Amino acid sequence: MSSADLIARAAAILQSGGLVAFPTETVYGLGADATNSIAVRKIFAAKGRPSTNPLICHVPDAEVAKRYAATWPAEATRLAETFWPGPLTLVLPKAAVIVDEVTAGLGTVGLRAPNHPLALELLRQVDLPIAGPSANKSNHVSPTTAAHVREELGDAVDLILDGGPCSVGIESTVLDLSTDRPTILRPGGVSREQIERVIGPVEMFAGSVGKGTAAASPGQQEKHYAPRADAVRYEPHQAQDVTGRCLRDTDDRWTILRAGGRAEEFGRLLADGFEACGNILYLPDNARDYAHHLYAVLRELDRQGVARLFIEMPPETPEWTAVRDRIRRATRPLPPE
Ligand code: TXA
Ligand code: MG
Repeated sequence: MSSADLIARAAAILQSGGLVAFPTETVYGLGADATNSIAVRKIFAAKGRPSTNPLICHVPDAEVAKRYAATWPAEATRLAETFWPGPLTLVLPKAAVIVDEVTAGLGTVGLRAPNHPLALELLRQVDLPIAGPSANKSNHVSPTTAAHVREELGDAVDLILDGGPCSVGIESTVLDLSTDRPTILRPGGVSREQIERVIGPVEMFAGSVGKGTAAASPGQQEKHYAPRADAVRYEPHQAQDVTGRCLRDTDDRWTILRAGGRAEEFGRLLADGFEACGNILYLPDNARDYAHHLYAVLRELDRQGVARLFIEMPPETPEWTAVRDRIRRATRPLPPE
């Protein structure tokens, strides 16, 4: 089928209340008509997601987004002009057409125009707001290829649109514009500094909330985005300690992940299943390429049956904020030996 035919089919499925997984620049989304409660409930069922976790809605552009927000402040216009289509979700008071299932009963909705040609074409054709969490089981690692979605959700989805690997590789930044002071609820593809250059100072939501709380942002929940391996994080000064523990290990099912590799080589090493590497993997040394590969690496290591994963925390500098956030949620701190 041609890609035009596939998009037409995907639009028809969404219009009749079905589920379509679609590519975005961040991660693959699991889409349903955000004006149809029955369709939206299918998302929660397929993901095993608690109904207290709100979903974001995808739109092709700011003009369309305005239909689904009850108010549209000047900041939203400026941010959309600068970053859309792109990895920024804006939380605003919701319009009545967005059903309560999407927003978990909250009065606000997260809106985003994804920067991917297939997604934009689909959103234009379908002419509906598309609720779309990441297309993975709840709390597991987000998918960055169509194959990841197939492995994880398989028959639970009516159609998977394959748009190749996601370029950004981690989820969008979620910015709440519904409160007095704009607040980043989840760091992501657009940095705090980039946002502040456009609208001035923003707050950063620092804490996390326990399971079962109706979080303003499900991404705030402590354990999230986690691989199946027992994943532990450590600071660079603990590197020797970690290596020591691993070398005393008898079954060889451990891997250490740290930044420091060359981005150009990394894709090939990953495609070969890290055959040429030992148990210490060097992800790319810059945050952008590290983020691009992170989830695919976690999946590959799970596939290989790695039992213990040690991830070195990258530097505490602005460009690494989103990556550090995802590592923190995927791991527990290094326990005493
Ligand atoms: O990059 C992304 O955002 C991807 C792609 C598919 O677009 N989607 C995604 O969705 O990561 P999900 O469901 O895995 O995460 C949804 C995020 C939550 O972490 C939360 O921050 C935010 O959307 N969210 C949705 N509705 C909200 C609301 N009403 N208030 C606050 N946050 C909301
Ligand atoms: Mg998710």
